[in-house]
Amino acid sequence: MSSVRNVTFNFRDGKATSVAVQQGESVLDAALAAGIPVIHQCRSGSCSSCMAKLVEGRAGMRAGASSTLLRSEYDAGDRLLCLTEAETDCTFALNYASDAGATQAVQAHAFVDSVDKVATNVVRLRLELAEGAWLDFKPGQFIQVRVPGTNVTRSYSPASTASDLPKIELLIRVLEDGVMSKWLELDAKPDDVLEIEGPFGSFFLREKVPAPHIMVAGGTGLAPILSMIDSLRRQPGRKPPILLSFGCATPEQLFCLDDLELRKQWLPNLTTRISVDHHASGDLLAGNPVDAIRDADVTHENAVAYLCGPPRMIEAATTKLVTLGLRPENIYAEQFAPSN
Ligand code: FES
Repeated sequence: MSSVRNVTFNFRDGKATSVAVQQGESVLDAALAAGIPVIHQCRSGSCSSCMAKLVEGRAGMRAGASSTLLRSEYDAGDRLLCLTEAETDCTFALNYASDAGATQAVQAHAFVDSVDKVATNVVRLRLELAEGAWLDFKPGQFIQVRVPGTNVTRSYSPASTASDLPKIELLIRVLEDGVMSKWLELDAKPDDVLEIEGPFGSFFLREKVPAPHIMVAGGTGLAPILSMIDSLRRQPGRKPPILLSFGCATPEQLFCLDDLELRKQWLPNLTTRISVDHHASGDLLAGNPVDAIRDADVTHENAVAYLCGPPRMIEAATTKLVTLGLRPENIYAEQFAPSN
């Protein structure tokens, strides 16, 4: 029996391309060697950038490889191509257009503009790219930031958009003993220089979808969602209805509520629901942002959803939205990977 498998990639714009994959070779390695623009980053199962859906044939993840893929995602056909080997000829669907992966990540320097604590556990870091530097990104994608004085990098999705460049705004969760958190608390000041690299990731706003958008954000998962909302606002033409469900553990951990109010003024189609797990009062809903999604929220067969937050939130939101009738292929998600 042949040890070479024919693997086909179907891009969202209708383009398809195939590659021969050797036994033991990862599907991602074979695709990249053939110049197929598959979005990727870590090549080790930890960033989810290379996610694709197996729609035909058999392909499994390497035995013993650890990854961020949820069991439910695997069962639904999702695969991380960097850890996937083809067992038969097979076909993968990629949920982005064939030109989306063509943007190469670049390295750049950026200056710190400001560092502000915006909640008990969230810091807003405003950066400005150095003169002559440029780093384009789609709303929802992430960049990597090297913590000054270390070899440690952390990944953050800008809350700003490419239209705001050379300014970049990050919302960073403060972690006890976190390397970045300590730098932000003890050392960061205006005009410090940071090394950044990007863009990375396949979680980004799909363009020109007129159907309703449901967005679910937990904690600093709000950052890429803000970028998406601002991009939708700036798109020419009619805006889709947008429902944002955002939640944190306590009222003291909420942030950017004024920014959301402002966006509601600019975007009458935007509805927000803000929830907290504990001590809800006033307009705040009790519970998590998935609880705040209601049966009547999925009103259109082509509705799309963007989810960003901890893995359990992503799993619960996906299950609920599919149960309510949202098509699984219309759900885009980015889960926080734990920092090492
Ligand atoms: S490139 Fe496959 S998970 Fe990061």
